[in-house]
Amino acid sequence: MSGTTVVRREAGSEVLAYDYRDTLLASEKVNWNLDDIIGGDKKLDFSKRFMPESLARVDELPFLNADEKRILNQIRGNAYLSIFVIVEEFIVPFVLDHVRPELDTDDYRIRAYLHFVEEEVKHIQLFKRFCEEFRAGFPIECKVIGPAAEIGKAVLAHNPTSVALAILMIEWMTQDHYVGSVKDDSDLDPQFKSMLKNHWLEEAQHAKLDTMMVESLIANSTDEQISEAIDGFLAIGGFLDAGLKQQTEFDLEAFETAVGRELSTEERERFLTTQLQANRWTYIGSGMVHPRFRQMLDRLGIDARNRIEEVAPVFA
Ligand SMILES: [Fe+2]
Ligand SMILES: [Fe+2]
Repeated sequence: MSGTTVVRREAGSEVLAYDYRDTLLASEKVNWNLDDIIGGDKKLDFSKRFMPESLARVDELPFLNADEKRILNQIRGNAYLSIFVIVEEFIVPFVLDHVRPELDTDDYRIRAYLHFVEEEVKHIQLFKRFCEEFRAGFPIECKVIGPAAEIGKAVLAHNPTSVALAILMIEWMTQDHYVGSVKDDSDLDPQFKSMLKNHWLEEAQHAKLDTMMVESLIANSTDEQISEAIDGFLAIGGFLDAGLKQQTEFDLEAFETAVGRELSTEERERFLTTQLQANRWTYIGSGMVHPRFRQMLDRLGIDARNRIEEVAPVFA
């Protein structure tokens, strides 16, 4: 595949298509509400870990005792909630902008996308409710990156195909997050686990709709345009990665305050390296290597797939 005049339909694998009506009906079947998940007697249990170890990687820090590992795991859980508020807040306007210009097309298409948006706003409320519960039960205030509006503005300034690919990666990675919590054999907090499960149930439909968004954005794109979209996707990845580095530093600060002891220089270094890598896997790597995301990369062509496979180990 070479040259800049080749259009997409001549390269890569077949068009990835889902049915808008089926997707809408599947999401209507799931349809939970906030009070089913959190509030009332459904409280976070701070005697348990919140995040699956596959994402938290606190057991890789041998100089922490069991209580300290649990506390760090919970700090990571709080950051997870806040980071998902940030990403969902830029997904909402992006999907609305995608659907707005073609309101006179397939009614199921419009309903499926509007339902997608409605669910993301519900997820923002869900994560915020969990954040409130966390603040009420955790002994100290934990810093998180932001503000969400500024991060969203920077992401949305990129080429729409780049943004749609970043969102697709995020949607697929939530599938891996729930699977991780199921596989985890430690006794995770049931509320946090339920949040991951219920998010997973609705994100499964979002990932399909986002696949269709990417498909419509790349229709008739040239190799050069696809390559530019990958440039933008990698730039968004780099930008998010800088945010994760900052979050890891905040988590170290929160951890030392919460446990009331300072780590040694070597321990701090090990903490920052291990936890940055855990954050990279949680928010970027687990999506980048998801088989369905890779299917989209195949669709974009060998060059796109190679470029992303080249950077994927950084986020492993
Ligand atoms: Fe969501
Ligand atoms: Fe979503």
